[in-house]
Amino acid sequence: MAVVAVVGAQWGDEGKGHIIDILAARAATVIRYGGGNNAGHTVVNRHGTFKLNLVPAGIFEPATVNIVGNGTVVNPKHFIGELDGLIARGIVVENLRISHRAHVVMPYHVEQDRLDELQRGDAKIGTTGRGIGPAYADKTARNGVRIGDLCDVAVLRRVLTPIIATKNRLFAGYYGAETRYDLEALITEYAAYGQRLAPYIGDIYGVVQTALAAKTPMLLEGAQGVMLDIDHGTYPFVTSSMPGIAGACQGAGIAPRALNHVLGVYKAFTSRVGSGPFPSEVSGETADALRQMGKPWAEVGTTTGRLRRVGWFDAVASRYAAQLNGIDRLALTKLDVLDELSEIKICIGYRLDGQIIDHPPTYTEQYDRVEPIYETLPGWLTPTSDVRRWQDLPAHARAYVERVAQLVGAEVSMVSIGPGHDQIIEVLPVL
Ligand code: IMP
Repeated sequence: MAVVAVVGAQWGDEGKGHIIDILAARAATVIRYGGGNNAGHTVVNRHGTFKLNLVPAGIFEPATVNIVGNGTVVNPKHFIGELDGLIARGIVVENLRISHRAHVVMPYHVEQDRLDELQRGDAKIGTTGRGIGPAYADKTARNGVRIGDLCDVAVLRRVLTPIIATKNRLFAGYYGAETRYDLEALITEYAAYGQRLAPYIGDIYGVVQTALAAKTPMLLEGAQGVMLDIDHGTYPFVTSSMPGIAGACQGAGIAPRALNHVLGVYKAFTSRVGSGPFPSEVSGETADALRQMGKPWAEVGTTTGRLRRVGWFDAVASRYAAQLNGIDRLALTKLDVLDELSEIKICIGYRLDGQIIDHPPTYTEQYDRVEPIYETLPGWLTPTSDVRRWQDLPAHARAYVERVAQLVGAEVSMVSIGPGHDQIIEVLPVL
């Protein structure tokens, strides 16, 4: 048996959905541990193409228990929509559990997210606008509503009454906005969501401990990426949760010692949506080649439809993510996107004020002065989408993957060469 955490190790959108979908088929339990519907995992499998925001990717396997962990923030209206979408396409969702401790993204969080971004003006973070930051802020400030609270109208009323009074004052005073919330209307709406979700909501402690004791394979499903981590990312251009391994343990209720592998998912190049530092960013023809516009797997945000910023593989940020999270294996996605490039660069260091540094700068402002140092590798100029065995990859492609793994400091587990379920080369299985 193995307990494996799948962690996004760049700025999100590494292609975790593909990797998780493959591994979920082998897991008895899949736990999504953090984030909310800011995430978008594209899964292409025998049932079709799905864009999941919060439902764990193991949902397609009827025997797999899928848990939405306490570390997530759940917009119940959105979540119900996601469930209904799956049900309409014939997917059985009975094997779903939601931790009663997961926090609720309320409509005032979405509104606060919007108004906060407006106030930031040019310094905006470029959030997904899904209310994620304000929901986590309220959780930490102990002003949150938990999913379990929705199942009991009396509890919901007790929890929500002081919050709505405060929020209405906040919107009128601080934001100077027209927005007001009607307590009774919210109670009615959210109690109805609670009723609908009640069959899935409960204490996951027992479920998780039983699965661990039974030594059945377990997958901890990450969202976003380490460089968006609230502590270790490019603050303030980050999300409000812990996408890495600390968030996995906390958000799933798993002891670190229960973990067998931390699988870091890296794209073969780098992308980022929203504002913030990106030392190896490129533009022009190279960006067009990396973005693959017009293709179903083009670099467009799954959740927001925004065009992703793209750049070369950044080994500095990638090694940092690996070290902070104990990444021992890596999955490299979208290798095929590099097939037509005659030369491929890897950012192996940063030059800051004349000094070469091999880790991210101390202050986010210093990124403005960072110059990437590149190593150039030959391209392979051969299609790889149909390759299924490591030894069948062109020599230059293998050399590229091996160089990336060496710089990151982890062993290669999987290489993806297309979005299809079977477009994967498994080198060293983790599960
Ligand atoms: P928030 O999580 O909506 O608050 O957004 C904060 C930052 O994280 C923004 O730059 C978003 O674009 C980014 N972000 C949030 N979720 C994802 C994701 O799933 N993939 C990539 N970027 C994300």
